Amino acid sequence: MHLKTVFGFVGLLSSALARDVVPGAYIAEIKGTTANGFLNKARVSGIKVSHRMTLDQDASIFNGVSFKLEEDTPENRAKISSWREVVKLFPIQIYNSTAPMTEQVVEDVGKIIKRSNWPVDSYPPHVQGGVDKVRAEGLDGQGIKVAIVDTGIDYTHPSLGGGFGPGFKVAVGYDFVGDSYNGRNTPVPDNDPMDCGGHGTHVAGIVAAIDTRFDFTGVAPNVTLGAYKVFGCPSIGTTDDVLISAFTRAVADGADVISASVSSSGGWGEYAWPQAVTRIVEDHGIPCVIGAGNSGSQGLFYASSAADAVGAIGVGYVDPLIVPRIYQTATVFASSGQNALISYYTATLRFPVGQLFELYAPVVDGQISDGCAGLPADSGDISQKIVVMRAGNCPFQDKVDAATEKGALKILLIEDLSSTFSMAIDGFVYVSRAASETNAALLALLSSGGTLSVTFQANPDITLKTSNNLATGGSISTGSSWGPTNRLYQRPHVCAPGGFVLSTSRSALNQGYAILSGSSMATPYISGVVALYLQKARAQNRIVTPAEIRIGLTTTAKALVFNDGTSANFNFLAPVAQQGGGMVDAYKFIYSNTVVDTDFLEFNDTQNFHASISFKITNRGAATANYQLTSIAGATAYTTMENSTIPQTFPPTMVQSYASVSIDPSNLTIKSGQSKRVVVRVVPPIGLDAPRIPVYGGWIKIARDADQDNLKIPYMGIATKIKDATVTNFEQGYPKLTSSLVNNPTDQPVLAWGLVLASGTVRIDVVSVSDPAANDVRIFNADNIIGSVPGYPSYWNPRSPQDQDTQVSWDGTVVKYEGLSPVAVPAGTYKFIYRALKMNGRNETGRDYERWVSPNFVWSLS
Ligand SMILES: *[C@@H]1O[C@H](CO)[C@@H](O)[C@H](O)[C@H]1NC(C)=O
Ligand SMILES: *[C@@H]1O[C@H](CO)[C@@H](O)[C@H](O)[C@H]1NC(C)=O
Ligand SMILES: *[C@@H]1O[C@H](CO)[C@@H](O)[C@H](O)[C@H]1NC(C)=O
Ligand SMILES: *[C@@H]1O[C@H](CO)[C@@H](O)[C@H](O)[C@H]1NC(C)=O
Ligand SMILES: *[C@@H]1O[C@H](CO)[C@@H](O)[C@H](O)[C@H]1NC(C)=O
Ligand SMILES: *[C@@H]1O[C@H](CO)[C@@H](O)[C@H](O)[C@H]1NC(C)=O
Repeated sequence: MHLKTVFGFVGLLSSALARDVVPGAYIAEIKGTTANGFLNKARVSGIKVSHRMTLDQDASIFNGVSFKLEEDTPENRAKISSWREVVKLFPIQIYNSTAPMTEQVVEDVGKIIKRSNWPVDSYPPHVQGGVDKVRAEGLDGQGIKVAIVDTGIDYTHPSLGGGFGPGFKVAVGYDFVGDSYNGRNTPVPDNDPMDCGGHGTHVAGIVAAIDTRFDFTGVAPNVTLGAYKVFGCPSIGTTDDVLISAFTRAVADGADVISASVSSSGGWGEYAWPQAVTRIVEDHGIPCVIGAGNSGSQGLFYASSAADAVGAIGVGYVDPLIVPRIYQTATVFASSGQNALISYYTATLRFPVGQLFELYAPVVDGQISDGCAGLPADSGDISQKIVVMRAGNCPFQDKVDAATEKGALKILLIEDLSSTFSMAIDGFVYVSRAASETNAALLALLSSGGTLSVTFQANPDITLKTSNNLATGGSISTGSSWGPTNRLYQRPHVCAPGGFVLSTSRSALNQGYAILSGSSMATPYISGVVALYLQKARAQNRIVTPAEIRIGLTTTAKALVFNDGTSANFNFLAPVAQQGGGMVDAYKFIYSNTVVDTDFLEFNDTQNFHASISFKITNRGAATANYQLTSIAGATAYTTMENSTIPQTFPPTMVQSYASVSIDPSNLTIKSGQSKRVVVRVVPPIGLDAPRIPVYGGWIKIARDADQDNLKIPYMGIATKIKDATVTNFEQGYPKLTSSLVNNPTDQPVLAWGLVLASGTVRIDVVSVSDPAANDVRIFNADNIIGSVPGYPSYWNPRSPQDQDTQVSWDGTVVKYEGLSPVAVPAGTYKFIYRALKMNGRNETGRDYERWVSPNFVWSLS
């Protein structure tokens, strides 16, 4: 009686549920009863549930209970929803750590850090974000409590205090899930938040490491940490109920800031966890810093949860100016008898050790191929070989596609200094990167003829090398997710160093260190900066709101020029949709004498356009100040491809067509301690291709006293009526009945659908063609249907990732009205009617939905 989801793989195409949820599991938000009261009521009503978690630690954040329905029927769900004790029933969303795209874990790297000679205040990421200057003022986070919601923390690590409990750096914490948790099974909590994945220990070190051996410290090394472990081992997924529990406990433990490098595709802010985050921010006054995701490759409109929560601080990431890399060595043997030593590092999955692999290194024009034009047609069977290609000249994904097209899943990419450092890929591929000298070394071996092969050792020699990142240093990483949200609010707010970050890893790895990349690493950096801010405010007895922090971080950030990841910087500012305010400037954030009362000026689309938005400037300095306001334009980015509804992957097309902005007054004088209001009006850029959903933006620069100090408020808007934009992926043939049904109409019907933009509601209704009288339900005054496919309507659907669809296999039952049990239909001829609600559409009127009718098919009882 339940929905079957079919996972089909076609090359790298994959299918997934519309939303990544735990099948059959729900959170009931309750009032006027307890979790036990709820569970009793379920028992008495004959609804069999297995209890997951009780979420009643603080009713002002969330009062509820999570459970698995033994029979996940619409009827059971509707019955529960109808109880007056139930405020809302949420499906349980699955989240991931804002997953590292690049991981280098090596046992003894601690030993070689010192050789790199990075004294505390010149640690490159700290210099990049202005932390070095704040630390020089004596701020170190002393007295501030930072909650790390992650894979736990290895508190035995000497750089993280060497112990757990009062008096230690990791003073409090809890394991909400147990080691076997995978996001889909039942959590088994315990008291020990020891990290097994390594991710949380890395994140914790970015905030608070103190390693006296190597002069290595985090952003705010004297904070105390709370370790809230929400992932099992391996760390592959956590859920709303677990995250709500962890956040609630962090509040109870007195956290001053909560940091979560965790995300899931979303953008609506409607899942249970983002709802709780909003209450923690708004009702408890605790800033929540959340990774904005690593889906930059997907282009615009790809905000994630819970960075999408109202009030959350969403964090994007910037590539490093100086790249540390831990190289391992391996010997390449030529069949001619010669050999050469190469240095490489693991970028995604490690090559299996101890096995002999043949290398496939096609030479084009005297160089090892870059793979951009595909691999040579005569490559033969390379599925067991390692494909060697040079980096650069095209997106990394093109190289991966070139290899996987030929069935190869192992890639050795030879670096060149001008190529991207970002290696976001879809699919299961082993990738290592070899030092640039490898090109010449392999060419020399190849010139002697024959084949090349390599073996990787378990414990090879290692070296830590640093190089200047000439290609993308200091730019937003191509992997950093873009906004806006599905309600046209901007995420991320601010960015921080997140590419190739060296930090602590588990002590089982010999007190080692690891290099990881992603918004996971930028998030704790911002949390550390917030801790420094709170330390200073506390010393001045000043109460700080989360809004003040969010606004301060966003408006003191440095707007960055665009970089496409493959070549030197462009000469225009990157879109606000990509960078928010831009790169964090910790010093300006903490020491600015001017503050404003808004993080963004969000003008919405042309239909809901705000003709003017006002904000307030407050002079917190000791003297009267003069302010000059000007506007600075960022690039306008198109969401979709030309003449197409399909979103563009990175980099989207950008045009230098700007909004015209008027600021009134643009010159004002404000006395110490006083505030004045300013009104900003924009006229969206003209001459744009509106159906491509242009997102424009820029900054209102507020220069104080001849620019000794300045703030920038980012503004943004959408230069089209978003309700007119197509949300269904009609262009690539969706929705569709799967081909077997088209050829053989009596097969079990499978409907595939996909979204090019998010849709708040997707319906799949069933119409009886052979017996029109059976269609006794009328929807939207438009269609007579026999009922809906169980599981539909589906709410708060994110945009589908590129090349993914959702497949629904129909079992011949329908739900007449939401909440009733599915009933089997008689054998006969049927068709589906699919509907998807447009963005900003009203869900009660059929007019605001896209509609598609399937071909007829036969349902026969088997
Ligand atoms: C910060 O921690 C260091 C190392 O534990 C310690 O020496 C220093 O006194 C601490 N700072 C303050 C203000 O307590
Ligand atoms: C989380 O990430 C891991 C590793 O990348 C992956 O195997 C897993 O499928 C992901 N889980 C979800 C829910 O996205
Ligand atoms: C844009 O307008 C829609 C429709 O009124 C509203 O739901 C949404 O919150 C608005 N977004 C912003 C950023 O103002
Ligand atoms: C888009 O359509 C216009 C008008 O039909 C045409 O001139 C243009 O070449 C098309 N662009 C692309 C990329 O197909
Ligand atoms: C701004 O106003 C101040 C004080 O009225 C005046 O001295 C200054 O010349 C003005 N600046 C500009 C650029 O208009
Ligand atoms: C449907 O519309 C109502 C009223 O505007 C709104 O409260 C609700 O959140 C909407 N639900 C969806 C799934 O869009």
